[in-house]
Amino acid sequence: MKPDELTDLRDMNGNRLIIRYTPNERSSHWITAISFVLLALSGLAMFHPAMSWLYALLGGGQWTRILHPFIGCVMFLSFLILGLRFWHHNYLDSGDIQWMMQIQDVLANREEKLPEIGKYNAGQKLLFFTMVTCLILLLASGIVIWRRYFSYYFTIEIIRFAAVVHATAAFVLIVGIVVHVYAAFWIKGAIGAMTRGTVTLGWARKHHPRWFKEIIGK
Ligand code: HEM
Repeated sequence: MKPDELTDLRDMNGNRLIIRYTPNERSSHWITAISFVLLALSGLAMFHPAMSWLYALLGGGQWTRILHPFIGCVMFLSFLILGLRFWHHNYLDSGDIQWMMQIQDVLANREEKLPEIGKYNAGQKLLFFTMVTCLILLLASGIVIWRRYFSYYFTIEIIRFAAVVHATAAFVLIVGIVVHVYAAFWIKGAIGAMTRGTVTLGWARKHHPRWFKEIIGK
């Protein structure tokens, strides 16, 4: 099965289905999502004593310090696959600027008034590049503060600066993912796209009309 392909598959109401995500893309996405949850919770445990009860999640303080950086590498690698596969779908164009100027219509669900959206809308594209930036900053700063293997290559000033960068990037990513998950549940049918891999023709035409036309045109 190829992504962005109209298939002969049908849902239980008889609607024809389009492939939005391949099994490879979906497994990379969910590995990234599970790693993210583990990292956010274990990171918060290390960030402030008020959240130290979260250490229990990974088996206590020592295990959290050992496992957190390795899970970080898993998230970076699985996100790398997503980033490379979806990069070309996330270029901003003039329609995206117009979409952002009409944010009131977006929030009021007046989709018919918006410029035709391709595979992703401007909000998804901006969030995509926010994710890319945060993931790069988290990896780079995470290596500097990974005491066991790398910190002795750096001065204490660089390590302190990296700790601030790490916490800031983590905060931005957590806020971004809260928005991402909210949007995923807000748009009915979006979760199914990332679990089953398919969407109906009606879903594509309503939420991503330009993408829909490209697929029908094929
Ligand atoms: C934690 C729970 C998460 C849920 C429920 C979730 C849900 C979804 C859904 C439903 C889509 C499909 C949207 C569409 O096709 O229009 C999607 C796409 C995507 N997700 Fe997630 N996600 C989660 C976490 C994450 C995390 C942690 C990351 C990365 C750090 C991530 C990165 C992406 C990317 C890159 C896309 C493709 C959108 C694009 O390229 O602009 N997701 N997600």
